[in-house]
Amino acid sequence: MHISRTLLTALLIAATTLGAPNIPLEARKRQATNARTDAVKEAFLHSWNGYTKFAFGFDELSPVSNKGTNSRNGWGASIVDAMSTAVLMELDDVVLKQLEHIKTVDFTNTATTVSLFETTIRYLGGLLSGYDLLMGPYKDLLPSNSTTLISSLVDQAVILADALAFGFDTASGVPANNLNFANKSFTDTTNGIATTGTLVLEWTRLADITGNRKYAELSQKAESYLLRPTPSLGEPFPGLLGTNVDIKTGQFIDSRGGWGGGTDSFYEYLIKMWVYDEEKYGLYKERWIAAADSTIKHLTSHPQPRQDITFVAEYQNAQTLSLNQGHLTCFIGGNFILGGQVLSRKEYTDYGLALTSGCHHTYDSTPSSIGPERWSWDPRNVPAAQSDFYARNGFYTTASYYDLRPEVIESYYHAFVATGDEKYREWAWDAFLAINATARTASGFTAVSDVGQENGGSKFDNQESFWFAEVLKYLYLIFQEDGKVGFVKGAEQKWVFNTEAHPFKVRN
Ligand SMILES: *[C@@H]1O[C@H](CO)[C@@H](O)[C@H](O)[C@H]1NC(C)=O
Ligand SMILES: *[C@@H]1O[C@H](CO)[C@@H](O)[C@H](O)[C@H]1NC(C)=O
Ligand SMILES: *[C@@H]1O[C@H](CO)[C@@H](O)[C@H](O)[C@H]1NC(C)=O
Repeated sequence: MHISRTLLTALLIAATTLGAPNIPLEARKRQATNARTDAVKEAFLHSWNGYTKFAFGFDELSPVSNKGTNSRNGWGASIVDAMSTAVLMELDDVVLKQLEHIKTVDFTNTATTVSLFETTIRYLGGLLSGYDLLMGPYKDLLPSNSTTLISSLVDQAVILADALAFGFDTASGVPANNLNFANKSFTDTTNGIATTGTLVLEWTRLADITGNRKYAELSQKAESYLLRPTPSLGEPFPGLLGTNVDIKTGQFIDSRGGWGGGTDSFYEYLIKMWVYDEEKYGLYKERWIAAADSTIKHLTSHPQPRQDITFVAEYQNAQTLSLNQGHLTCFIGGNFILGGQVLSRKEYTDYGLALTSGCHHTYDSTPSSIGPERWSWDPRNVPAAQSDFYARNGFYTTASYYDLRPEVIESYYHAFVATGDEKYREWAWDAFLAINATARTASGFTAVSDVGQENGGSKFDNQESFWFAEVLKYLYLIFQEDGKVGFVKGAEQKWVFNTEAHPFKVRN
């Protein structure tokens, strides 16, 4: 399935463009990649139009039943999350509609619990990125009378951050994550390192745009406990931490971790803060290097039947590895490649490429050509029904769904930029075709139940806002020629992506 689809695409491109005589090779390649950015744009508009028709103003569309749902406080998460992608695609009508809506949202009011982390990465991130892009390289995208609309992005970001700020009001300054806006209360006693350590880029950017240091200080105070973890159980390997912190004391309470959900983007932001400002965030870089070196040394794992494949293990503590990986972890390839480029350290780039190949392998092995949510390669627990699959592929599936996650394609993007190897574009195109073939509905794209079936199993009726923010953005960027904004090969970056793929201008 996988091979035939790839071949078919290659043949189609050959027939329509590459085969055309008298057109120089560079121009032919450009036509082929333009056809691909057009296809990704078509997918974006398909989802956006379905959302607009059936669920505008809701957080997301249920793309099977064609209803709106609110999983992110009802502030229109898909609108805010889709904006930076719409700007990069230069969809000016879409962006204007988004801005008009965002201006009307009351970010202080919601009946449901607010996640400080999710709200920061999706809403604050989306608002600030829209501002950076529309005031910067895309300042001519909208009519000149749109400046008030654009600056309302920052006004709304300030209102939202001020509404969230009581979450940091704990004895240590490590915030609570689950906030009740109605009575400004929370019941959390602990917080994870991802939910604590994936605020600092957004809140620091907000401080720099507004000139109000408070936002940077709150997030950096919280981060300080993660940069200097105590007690020692919180750092089972140099630079690799436990998962949870007591918000009263800022002390770690466990030693388990890895690069999976709950811890992942804490490590991601260590290097990204340094990209944001090399002068100010040297300690963040040092901590990323410590984590990266320990990961290479202690967590690298090759499945028994497939020594050619590289995965990264999780750990219960310094003694006990757990041979599991998840789709979420697959951003790690891209993060190592980013680190390798900005630090001019080839070993990190090479390691990132190996991990990217490992994640590609999970896509390449399934009948749907999409990788599973989680898998294992622990030889002691292979389920009988998957023993042949394990012997052939070196892993077995432990959670079979696909939730429109971006991480594998995110790593392809970094791999392509760093190497220029067209192979990574082919992998991204294969993933796109597979998702388009299995997850597409009449009004959008949905999570699917089982990547182990050629048709993806059943459709879950859920289209997460990160489909717009991340999957479609990284797909668009990997095929785009001469884009204005993105990751670039080498050490000098002008943009840094938050964990939701919203690009921020680096500090200058
Ligand atoms: C900007 O100008 C156009 C027409 O030139 C008008 O339709 C639109 O409403 C104006 N937008 C704002 C925000 O004033
Ligand atoms: C705040 O409101 C929530 C939800 O209504 C309730 O469960 C909680 O007990 C309230 N907390 C305080 C401190 O009043
Ligand atoms: C995606 O799927 C739609 C609907 O089946 C189809 O029209 C479109 O051509 C597909 N896109 C690509 C690039 O294959």
